[in-house]
Amino acid sequence: MERELALEIVRVTELAALAAAPWMGRGDKHHADEAATNAMRGMLDSVSIRGTVVIGEGEMDEAPMLYIGEQVGSLQGPEVDVAVDPLEGTELVAKGLNNAMAVIAVAPKGQLLHAPDMYMEKLAVGPALAGKLSLQDPLRTTVEKAALALNKPLSDLTVMILDRARHEAEIRELREAGIRIKLLSDGDVAGAMAPAFPEAGIDLYVGSGGAPEGVLAAAALKCLGGEIQGRLMPENDEQERRCIEMGLADPRKLLRMNDMVGSGDVIFAATGITPGEFFGGVRLLEGQRAETHSIVMRAETRTIRFIRSLHYLPNKPLLASIKSQIG
Ligand code: FBP
Repeated sequence: MERELALEIVRVTELAALAAAPWMGRGDKHHADEAATNAMRGMLDSVSIRGTVVIGEGEMDEAPMLYIGEQVGSLQGPEVDVAVDPLEGTELVAKGLNNAMAVIAVAPKGQLLHAPDMYMEKLAVGPALAGKLSLQDPLRTTVEKAALALNKPLSDLTVMILDRARHEAEIRELREAGIRIKLLSDGDVAGAMAPAFPEAGIDLYVGSGGAPEGVLAAAALKCLGGEIQGRLMPENDEQERRCIEMGLADPRKLLRMNDMVGSGDVIFAATGITPGEFFGGVRLLEGQRAETHSIVMRAETRTIRFIRSLHYLPNKPLLASIKSQIG
């Protein structure tokens, strides 16, 4: 993929974040998501790709736009798979909490796993632990191996996990081992990326979260030199069937990073909506300006760009229609 595409892609997440930001703290996750989705869909039209949404807002009959299978982009340029989460952390925006962002990943056609909307068990690490752990090991073995590889005692290890009742056993086991736990309220794309950023102070990300979010995190971690392993968790016959339809003959097989994002290039971009671990959220400024903070990166080069942009809002016609919906 052309490297210029990375900069086109980040404009898409910037606009989605700008559209969602006015909904911050309004207790209305549906309108926040709708605003981000409208903006992302509109902006994608200007990107020089022939894209197919493989991870999006749902199946065609559930989502009016950015549905799975939808064709996006200017329909000129390379054929690519597109994975989107226009608003990753809908509750976070509704409640005015940190870590919500607009996210996209783009890869050559056929590379991204069409992850069904169900839970995935995840183990994500930064470069220091990449290739050293296995999701097939019991949790206790994993943390012991991690501590050994990082040359520190278990008591100095910090693990991040979604704060959910379903994680009660894992949380208890980690605490019994004397490990520090950083509980995440929502937003496990950022959670899985955290171990790749030393300043976040997280060694491992574990537990289950959305499978589509797992693929987005895999795209990010491939660019960051980290690693994620996953295992889908179908909970009924219908979910089993969807896995098989999506080409996963064994729905519970261990998924490595290349199973999720392929072995070729991938571009990942995210823009903060509310402040997060790695970048700030949208800030509305004087003079009808707004500031955004984004990350954009490409697996082939592993260059990580942090982009701070100052937008002049009157020059964004797509935003005008979206903003007017707030009562
Ligand atoms: P939404 O933005 O779709 O609300 O997802 C937020 C999120 O926290 C994801 O990051 C995570 O993968 C998933 O929800 C976890 O699901 P659950 O809230 O059911 O544990």
